[in-house]
Amino acid sequence: MVRSKVGKSQVETAPLGLGTNKVGGHNLFPNLSESDGLETVRAALESGIQLLDTAFMYGKGRSEELIGEVIADFPRDQVIIADKAAHDFSSGEMVLNNEPQFLKKSVDDALKRLKTDYIDIFYIHFPDEKTPKSEAVGALQELREAGKIRAIGISNFTLEQVKEANQNGFVDVVENYYSLIHRDEEEKLIPYLKDAHISFVPYFPLESGLLTGKYTKDSTFAENDRRSKSEKFTGKSFQNTMAAVDTLRPIARQHNVDVLQIVLAWYLANPDLTAVIPGARNAGQIPGIVQSAEVKLSKDEYDLINRNFLSV
Ligand SMILES: NC(=O)c1ccc[n+]([C@@H]2O[C@H](COP(=O)([O-])OP(=O)(O)OC[C@H]3O[C@@H](n4cnc5c(N)ncnc54)[C@H](OP(=O)(O)O)[C@@H]3O)[C@@H](O)[C@H]2O)c1
Repeated sequence: MVRSKVGKSQVETAPLGLGTNKVGGHNLFPNLSESDGLETVRAALESGIQLLDTAFMYGKGRSEELIGEVIADFPRDQVIIADKAAHDFSSGEMVLNNEPQFLKKSVDDALKRLKTDYIDIFYIHFPDEKTPKSEAVGALQELREAGKIRAIGISNFTLEQVKEANQNGFVDVVENYYSLIHRDEEEKLIPYLKDAHISFVPYFPLESGLLTGKYTKDSTFAENDRRSKSEKFTGKSFQNTMAAVDTLRPIARQHNVDVLQIVLAWYLANPDLTAVIPGARNAGQIPGIVQSAEVKLSKDEYDLINRNFLSV
């Protein structure tokens, strides 16, 4: 896979990575198996995926610990760790914190959990309301100068907040919500990022499973399944997405793959994105993800998929 630079940093990544909020993210997802999480990360690395997207918030450090266990068995330069922090539980309740001291301590603590001496990409996970953005990013620049991180990221920042954070040109990458059915960032954020040589990594590329092709318009979710309360997985919105997903089925048949590979191939062909980080729940899902890198969509197919999902 062709590698590209993350912003202006020295970090280079292939476009296919792995999202790891289901690796140890017990506070976010019920009934997660840690052995499945460990095997998922191992299977991804063994299949050639290098970019692992984690965060303190995924299990309050547990995802980082599990990843640390697995990467110990691989050469460090074969792994690209993207990590995040901002959630501060020190007062007993969760507050977002971007203060320089908090970010510096977060990186030091994350390095211990990951059992490594540098983090390739470090994101401020969410903006807080009080810290001047350029001060927060300034702290990450100091961490970069100290060799503890290699690239500076911000996540869940609006365009105005990104501009404020990037006053000194230190920001390398933005990670925000963007998917085939959630295209808001195309209008303003992405054009700014391109001009400023900042990479873009979208999260929720599979819309939490909605775009994998495993659901149809007749799918329903049990009362105790949180998807039964989600707007995206119910009602008109669900029906519209399923209708758009159905338009992918003939394209998938043409390529002899499943819908999931066609969806990921669309992101991989999207020139606005530096990497895509689908999440997986178990190692069995890794081959399907990896296979997407072999699918080459024609320009007509890419444009057709683009159009079919624009109106969802
Ligand atoms: N920066 C942020 O604030 C932020 C926020 C959210 C997420 N993220 C990052 O983005 C990553 C991606 O988001 P996500 O994992 O929540 O959602 P996602 O990538 O949109 O969807 C992941 C889900 O797709 C399904 N899936 C994956 N491979 C499959 C396969 N081969 N066959 C069938 N189903 C498959 C699984 O669903 P099932 O679980 O139903 O099996 C999996 O849990 C996260 O892991 C995290 O690293 C960042």
